[in-house]
Amino acid sequence: MTAQRLDGKAISKQIQAETKTKVAEFVSQSGRAPVLAAVLVGDDPASQVYVRNKERACKRVGIESRLIRMSGESSTEDLLAKVNELNNAPEVSGILVQLPLPDQCDSRTILDAINPNKDVDAFHPHNVGLISQGRPRFLPCTPHGIVQMLRRYDIETTGKHVCVIGRSDIVGKPMAMMLGQRDSGLGPEMANATVTLCHSRTANLAEITKQADILIAAIGRPNFVTPDMIKPGATVVDVGINRTDDGLVGDVDFDAAMEVASYVTPVPGGVGPLTVAMLLENTLMAALQGQ
Ligand code: GUN
Repeated sequence: MTAQRLDGKAISKQIQAETKTKVAEFVSQSGRAPVLAAVLVGDDPASQVYVRNKERACKRVGIESRLIRMSGESSTEDLLAKVNELNNAPEVSGILVQLPLPDQCDSRTILDAINPNKDVDAFHPHNVGLISQGRPRFLPCTPHGIVQMLRRYDIETTGKHVCVIGRSDIVGKPMAMMLGQRDSGLGPEMANATVTLCHSRTANLAEITKQADILIAAIGRPNFVTPDMIKPGATVVDVGINRTDDGLVGDVDFDAAMEVASYVTPVPGGVGPLTVAMLLENTLMAALQGQ
C-alpha cells in the first residue's frame, strides 16, 4: 500500500488566497491594513528563517509586517518594555515573540505580558483557558493548521482515536485539547475524537500509537516514528522539524510510513506552511476584533 502525501503547501496557498480576499475587504472597510509585529531576539538561524517566512507571507496577503530585531543580550525587562510599547500601539493588530528566547530571558513572563487581544500565537494563559473551555478567541497556529488540513482532505475526527506524541504548550497540549472537545472552535465536525496524549515517559508507546486512527508526532526527534508504531491505514501528521546532517527531517520515517498509512504529511511541505497560514488568519481576526 502506498499512502497519499498530504500537501500542506497547497492547502496553505488555498488558505492564504482566502485570507487575502478577507484582508482586502478589511482594508476597504477600515482604510488600514492589519499589522503584525514580530519580535526577533538574537540571531538563531532557524528563527531568522521562520520570521522571514512569516514576513513574506504577510506581504503576500496584504498584512503589514513589522520586524523588531533585538540584541541577543536583551534582558527580560528590555523585552517587557518592547511588548508594552506594542500593546499600546493602536495600529498593531497582532504581536508575536519568536521562540526560543535566549536563556537570560524569562519566556513565560514575556509571553504573559502580551495583550491577550493581540496574542496571535494564542500562548497567553487567558487564551489557553478559553481554548480549554471550547470558546477560543484565537486558535494556536500549528494545531489549527493541522485541523484545517484534516478538514480539507475530508479526514474525519469524530469517534476516531487520535494519538498525540509530545505535550508541548505550542503543539501537543492544545492539539489534544482541541480534538477531544465537543467543538474544536472550528465546528463539532473537527473535534469529538478520543485523544491519547503520549510523551517521553509513556510506557509501551508503540502499543498505544498502533491503535491510533490519526497519529500526530510533535516531539522533535528525527525519524522517531517507525512503521511498527503505525496502524495500517492511519493518518500520520508530522510536526517535527529536525536539522540533521542529512538535512531537514521530521519526527516520522516518511518513506516507511507511506507503506503502512493512508495519509502522511511530508517534511518540509506539510505542517510548516500551514502554521504560517493560520498566523495570518489570526492577525486578520485580531484586526477585526480590535476595530
Ligand atoms: N517557535 C517555534 N514555533 C513557534 C510559534 O509557533 N510561535 C512562536 N512565536 N515561536 C515559535
